[in-house]
Amino acid sequence: MRILSGVQPSGALHLGNYLGAIRQFVDAQKQAGDERFFFVADLHALTTIHDGARLRMLARQVATDYLALGLDPERSVIYRQSDLPAVAELSWLLSTVTPMGLLQRGHSYKDKLARGLAPIHGLFAYPVLMAADILIVRADRVPVGRDQKQHLEMTRDIAQAFNATYGAGLLRIPEPVILADTAVVPGTDGQKMSKSYGNTLDLFAPERDLKRAVMGIVTDSTPVAEPKPTRGNTLYALLRLLTAESDWPATRRLFTEGGHGYGEIKKHLLGLLLDTFRAARERREELQRDPGFVEGVLARGAERAHAVADDLMRACRRACGTGD
Ligand code: TYM
Repeated sequence: MRILSGVQPSGALHLGNYLGAIRQFVDAQKQAGDERFFFVADLHALTTIHDGARLRMLARQVATDYLALGLDPERSVIYRQSDLPAVAELSWLLSTVTPMGLLQRGHSYKDKLARGLAPIHGLFAYPVLMAADILIVRADRVPVGRDQKQHLEMTRDIAQAFNATYGAGLLRIPEPVILADTAVVPGTDGQKMSKSYGNTLDLFAPERDLKRAVMGIVTDSTPVAEPKPTRGNTLYALLRLLTAESDWPATRRLFTEGGHGYGEIKKHLLGLLLDTFRAARERREELQRDPGFVEGVLARGAERAHAVADDLMRACRRACGTGD
């Protein structure tokens, strides 16, 4: 089984990225016999970041964060998307069989336009590049959060169109892996946690900033002494995501028995966040002192990704007539 996923280096990693995606990447490393590919999607981030120095810095940062959170270069191929330029070539080959209508139905494109982003071709064609990422290593499974579900459906449609044109079995049709509980992690305002909504709890923010974000979680005005609702309560939803199932009854009681103010419960959440990510935060500090190590991991990852991608690209070029 081949597993692949990626994260855009468009800002600091947040709890939604971790619970929706990166925790799955780390867990996948336990499965002997599988091959895993986790990359930093810097070509994708170019659709929103047009500052070379910043993109370079953010891409290295995501690679550092991957390692700090437990991705192991011995068990996973960790690479930067732009180090595998054939992805852009495959993206073009795929775009020649991708119907416009498929891309026009893209929720993510429509959302970005609705938020005021300029309608550039890169944003529109984003799902084709994402298909190339996945198809170039012949991935079987792609662990992601629910916001990527439609992109995975498009990847499958594009791969089928390519196979129908050039030969069945040329591209492998991947399956998304979306965990029900963490498919959509809420942000501090109750909407989906997202860099672009400014509602994130960042994994590696200084404690002071994290505290400010946690204290800003939107709650209702139930008085301290009264029982608090759990349904539709963002604070409750976040706490549940961070606690083991055996602690769920105690978490629930904090809300239902009354006597616990939201301020107190938020402090409890802050403590849990700091405990959960303490080791990762420490490891990240160490890694930041050794950028050469991180670059070495990316260089080795790129070599290993090339070895897999080169075979697929040879077959695709032969089929399309752009190579022998
Ligand atoms: P990105 O960088 O926006 O997010 C990275 C991963 O985090 C998940 N995620 C969430 N999951 C649950 N709740 C949330 N609030 C939340 N916010 C983010 C995302 O679903 C994603 O899995 N297009 C991708 C990057 C990409 C990619 C790929 C992924 C490029 N090529 C190929 C998989 C395979 C993206 O923008 O993710």
